[in-house]
Amino acid sequence: MKPRTIATVVVIGLALLGVSIWSYQSLNLMPVEASDRAVQVDQLFRVMLGVATFIFLLVEGALLYSMLRFRRRPGDEGDGVPLHDNTWLEVVWTVIPVIIVLVIGVYAFRVLTDIEAAGPDAMVVNVHSRQFSWSFDYPAYGVNSSDLHLPVGKRVRFLITSEDVIHSFWIPDFRAKRDATPGEISQLVVTPTRIGSYPIRCAELCGPGHASMGLSSQAVVQSQADFDAWIAQQRAGSNDPVALFKQFGCIGCHTLAAAGAAGKVGPDLDGIGQRAGTRVPGQDAATYIKDSILNPGAFVVPGFPDFVMPRDFSSRITPDQLSILVNFLLKQ
Ligand code: CUA
Repeated sequence: MKPRTIATVVVIGLALLGVSIWSYQSLNLMPVEASDRAVQVDQLFRVMLGVATFIFLLVEGALLYSMLRFRRRPGDEGDGVPLHDNTWLEVVWTVIPVIIVLVIGVYAFRVLTDIEAAGPDAMVVNVHSRQFSWSFDYPAYGVNSSDLHLPVGKRVRFLITSEDVIHSFWIPDFRAKRDATPGEISQLVVTPTRIGSYPIRCAELCGPGHASMGLSSQAVVQSQADFDAWIAQQRAGSNDPVALFKQFGCIGCHTLAAAGAAGKVGPDLDGIGQRAGTRVPGQDAATYIKDSILNPGAFVVPGFPDFVMPRDFSSRITPDQLSILVNFLLKQ
């Protein structure tokens, strides 16, 4: 090779390396890092992005250069240069990708085993999903809630399942996602590292309310003292109808101004108190609302699908909670 060619190759190589390192360090395509998983997953992502940038620019650059430099000139009617294989080149472009894939594979495996390690003192939270809401059980405290509260810096072990179809429990800011499958319990461990509120999403198409499934829940990461206060408040029991409306997931499917709910999957509940007594002949308003919660298949409002409203409220709601909710809805 001529010295000028070598110099050109070195300059181009350094430029490619520069852009790759810049993309590795500066491009931030992810949401905030709110857990230990997020830090490690993002680091892996940036390494892969840097390597991919280098390879992309190298290959596309060589392609563009060849197209321009070796294109057919006017009047050139001859055959192309007869090229044979080049063993040295082929060994190089096989061995280098193999090394890159192996290194990234080992690195990714180490990240995976690291972030999936449960640790002995993790706090267990049972995650329940259904069309179209989440709820969270804290077996150590006997608490159930539609919002996920977590103490900062404490390892959590989620045991995730579904009561109907396949959902996927996803907290983007934690970089944590796992399928919720009926009849199975899947585990996900994470340590939240940043105080704040983070959205919870469903990442598996699960029916007409899929897009709004996360809107009634959020992950609240707080100090241990605030978390303890929240647990105490939950254990004291809530008679607040709006809290019950959220806890039982009604907010995921129905519209109700008093609860800040804007769901479109089920009937609009604004003004339900006036309409309830006219729906089913011989049924007064309170009986109709109660029956619609406990036995939703008995009467389905025209225009809405059957079998979307959960069928299991009779086993989940206490008589006290039911009468609080019914009285609340009667006044809407
Ligand atoms: Cu649940 Cu999508």
